[in-house]
Amino acid sequence: MQVVKYVFQPHGDDRGQLVALEEIKDIPFKIKRVYYMYDTKEGVVRGYHAHKNLQQILVCIHGSCKIRLDDGKEKKIIPLEKPYEGLYVSNNMWREMFDFSPDAVLMVLASELYDESDYIRDYDEFLKSVSIEG
Ligand code: TYD
Repeated sequence: MQVVKYVFQPHGDDRGQLVALEEIKDIPFKIKRVYYMYDTKEGVVRGYHAHKNLQQILVCIHGSCKIRLDDGKEKKIIPLEKPYEGLYVSNNMWREMFDFSPDAVLMVLASELYDESDYIRDYDEFLKSVSIEG
């Protein structure tokens, strides 16, 4: 499995840092939706799903968390702890988010609007869908 982590360019000066993300230029898709998770309770694991079509970039803009990616063949754990790093999560990728620090804010840039029918929430169904795909 190829893990694609983007390192964004902070526009730093003596006032501090600023990261700007533009669709297509910095993000490999048109951004249709942004959402973020915060105040995640200790020990919580979120996600437990894949998407049929959706692509995402995950940025932990404050604090830290870990992402487990699973393409049906291989699993990888990717720590996110820098506000200028973005993890690309393609479609057909099982994801779990865990180990949130109490101050973590995990922002997600998504290529599509929210659509429950795009979710695969059953792990066996996910394994079947990726094995059919080849
Ligand atoms: P959920 O899918 O459980 O989040 P995760 O898999 O990341 O843990 O979403 C939590 C709730 O938020 C659920 O009621 C659906 C709602 N939701 C939206 O309304 N819009 C969205 O874009 C997302 C991601 C979730």
